[in-house]
Amino acid sequence: MSLQEKLEALKHETLAKIEAATDLVALNQIRVETLGKKGPITEVLRGMKDLSAEERPKVGSFANEIRDALAESLEARKEVLEINAMNEALAKERIDVTLSGKQMPIGTRHVLTQIIEEMEDIFVGMGYQVVEGYEVERDHYNFQRMNLPKDHPARDMQDTFYITDEILLRTHTSPVQARTMEKHDFSKGPLRMVSPGKVFRRDTDDATHSHQFHQIEGLVIDEKVTMGDLKGTLEVLMQQMFGADREIRLRPSYFPFTEPSVEVDVSCFKCGGQGCNVCKQTGWIEILGAGMVHPNVLEMSGIDATKYSGFAFGLGPDRIAMLRYGVNDIRDFYHNDIRFIHQFKGE
Ligand code: PHE
Repeated sequence: MSLQEKLEALKHETLAKIEAATDLVALNQIRVETLGKKGPITEVLRGMKDLSAEERPKVGSFANEIRDALAESLEARKEVLEINAMNEALAKERIDVTLSGKQMPIGTRHVLTQIIEEMEDIFVGMGYQVVEGYEVERDHYNFQRMNLPKDHPARDMQDTFYITDEILLRTHTSPVQARTMEKHDFSKGPLRMVSPGKVFRRDTDDATHSHQFHQIEGLVIDEKVTMGDLKGTLEVLMQQMFGADREIRLRPSYFPFTEPSVEVDVSCFKCGGQGCNVCKQTGWIEILGAGMVHPNVLEMSGIDATKYSGFAFGLGPDRIAMLRYGVNDIRDFYHNDIRFIHQFKGE
């Protein structure tokens, strides 16, 4: 077989292999084997020195031709295989965007948080600031500064958990009154604040008592604040919370830190005052304690009681939520039963 014939045969054989190659790795292997440094074509070209001067250019150009033809064919096949590989990958990795997705469970804010935020909004709308207090509080602020000195009999109603003799879990949010008053700069305007949070008492838990519950404290101090301001403010609050037809009534009461003190009732939102199971047939629902800030409390906080006066109130979000949603047991708020919590999805 002449050299030319050998090369011709090699060309056909290699072209067939290229055609048969089904992946890029195999194709590269063919390229290395035929066109590489140790491949047959390189060998032919290397052996040229042994040929006659007349044969050399013929064989040389023939060998080059074949090398170019094979290189071209390799390149063409490579392109085809690359496109195939890409199409295959595209087919395999395709996602069907029309498939329905997985439902992500969305949580809900606790019903008490919702009530507290709703009331905060109402007060912020009336120019109040929202203040945070401490759940672990000093006897000094929780009792003494609220006009409840040591051994005051009214402390009996608010027994609590003591960390030391002087440090306790606060029994009400009223200590925030004292903490806010002593910091307030009246040259910048009146003091109007609400302060929501948890409070604690040594109670035996039952359907209407929990050792932990919530309050929202309210406090307004300015010159010439009257009980009329207190009544008007609470009326607005109750109408926004329970409906525009709500009325309130004040009954005399007693708190050491307010004088006079009142218990505030709201006309029943369910029966409108006719009498029903929600208002226990009275037409009225007892909703909060309030009063005019006692001069002793003002003075102890460094406020001139001859110049300034104010009102304060304490609301119970737990009770409001129970009334509004017909929850019969306060403990439901604290059991963290997801079936209970999820009933209050809010908007
Ligand atoms: N701190 C009182 C309580 O817990 C409620 C209250 C607050 C009453 C402010 C009057 C004024 O019972």
